[in-house]
Amino acid sequence: MRNTGAAGADRLIHLNTAGAGLVPAEVRRTMAEVLDREAATGCYETEGFFDGIINDEVYRRLARVLGAPVTDVALFDSATRAWCAVVPRLSLGPDDRVWVTPYEYAGNLISLFNLRDRTGCQIEVVPTLPGGDLDLEWMTANIADDVALVSVTHIPSGCGIVNPVEAIGRLLAPYRCFYAVDACQSIGQVPVDVQRIGCQLLTGAGRKFMRGPRGTAFAYVAPELRAALVPDFHDLHVARIDSATGYRIDDHSARSLELAERSTAAVAGFNTALTLFEEGTPFDHKEVFRALRATLEDIPGIELIAPGTEQSGILSFRHQDVAAETVRDRLAEQRINVWKIVGHHTPVYMAERGVETAVRVSAHYYNTLEEIEEFGRALRDTLGAGA
Ligand SMILES: Cc1ncc(COP(=O)(O)O)c(C=O)c1O
Repeated sequence: MRNTGAAGADRLIHLNTAGAGLVPAEVRRTMAEVLDREAATGCYETEGFFDGIINDEVYRRLARVLGAPVTDVALFDSATRAWCAVVPRLSLGPDDRVWVTPYEYAGNLISLFNLRDRTGCQIEVVPTLPGGDLDLEWMTANIADDVALVSVTHIPSGCGIVNPVEAIGRLLAPYRCFYAVDACQSIGQVPVDVQRIGCQLLTGAGRKFMRGPRGTAFAYVAPELRAALVPDFHDLHVARIDSATGYRIDDHSARSLELAERSTAAVAGFNTALTLFEEGTPFDHKEVFRALRATLEDIPGIELIAPGTEQSGILSFRHQDVAAETVRDRLAEQRINVWKIVGHHTPVYMAERGVETAVRVSAHYYNTLEEIEEFGRALRDTLGAGA
């Protein structure tokens, strides 16, 4: 499925799927159908009409895509909300250690810092090898039962390293810790299977490489992790006040972590995106990615920010003279979308490298080799024009 025609006035080269993917026509049509029906017949009535899709089919599809039991998946409106529905509810204490990596997403870290301040747990950063790969030998040597949580970002938003989440899952398996994987940038881009990873939590967004609507996200939460969470709140799709002083929970699945209110259009649109994903050949971007990397490596004055031996379709770079914002804006004038990233969104790694801003280019299967060539020409002109 291509997003552009040949070079022409209306063509768009979208190299910002790490921000949000281009929504396929089928997803847009589903959402428009929901909105039209809501306007014509009422929102709650429309929700009833789409009940089979938004309360059953979408969960079954998501569970299949993740390799998870359907009772262990839940929907949210952002990946951060999915993360915050689980991690802050962990019952930790001063003797517990939490491991993160230098690639942790800033929003996850903020919630972990609050958890640390509330519970006294200690946060430790897993070291990397000189090339940027996580030091698995260090992990193997240091893992012990006082590690309560290990959080690994599968692919960070600021640079395209693919962290070895399955190997990490194997090394953690004999130990007590819960294992959380942030799959926000990996789902839809590389295979993600919770059984193979061996994690108890996996969160992600629908809008990026899955090409779902904005305002869609999900979590896989294993039963043993759900059982360990401190109860906080249950919304009325799963709970019922049954006495003057108490309530009962009718649904103990992962959906018990959701809030009841959500957008029917977004959830139905996400179901269509999952359908297209299941029917398509989604991981077919390697040739385009190689071309993208070769294009950038060939341009003088560019410093690639690309740690690690395994790379995804996300590549970031800085130029010695031209600011990231200028690059983004000049390319946008030619209808080429790239993004200016800020170091403090992937704060540990970017601070180590001294990166405050950079240009992020992210390719997906709908990008063509011709588009990469055109992007390369436009980027050379942009940088040639100076600061
Ligand atoms: C790696 C990673 N984790 C988490 C998030 C947060 O996702 P959301 O904006 O849906 O909360 C992002 C957002 O870009 C991300 O790149």
